[in-house]
Amino acid sequence: MSVVIRYFTKSKKGNTEKIAKFISEKLGVEALDITNPLTEKTETLILVNAMYAADIDNRIKDFLKDNKDNIGEVVNVNSAASGSSTYKAVKKTCDKYGISMSDKEFHTVASWIFINKGRPNQADFDRLATFLEQFKA
Ligand SMILES: Cc1cc2nc3c(=O)[nH]c(=O)nc-3n(C[C@H](O)[C@H](O)[C@H](O)COP(=O)(O)O)c2cc1C
Repeated sequence: MSVVIRYFTKSKKGNTEKIAKFISEKLGVEALDITNPLTEKTETLILVNAMYAADIDNRIKDFLKDNKDNIGEVVNVNSAASGSSTYKAVKKTCDKYGISMSDKEFHTVASWIFINKGRPNQADFDRLATFLEQFKA
């Protein structure tokens, strides 16, 4: 299975980047930010993202649009302070551009300003490690 990791991180905490780097280590696949286009067709795009103002950032939407021809299937890995997944927002964009989206997803609560301090924590990363087993070559 060909797996590629792309992420977009916005806050100074860099939660999404931390999650992407963890996935990279577990799968032995480089994690790059979304300024790096997909240069060849991939079966699985692990898209690591977060909720901002009850949506995903427009740069994620543009990345999906610009790279649609090289994406077999999107797997959504995401965090939010509220515990609400970005799945619906990512799916809406995927549907718009005819991109397949897996129903498998990983979501975790994450820190934001003064709430959810220390999240994602060890237990969240343990859960993520279990989720990633299915993507190991
Ligand atoms: C500008 C901004 C807006 C946010 N808006 C929401 C929101 O509407 N709902 C929510 O649950 N979390 C919200 N969050 C929390 C983020 O989803 C959470 O902190 C996430 O882990 C941030 O990832 P990052 O550090 O990679 O940017 C927001 C965070 C930021 C920085």
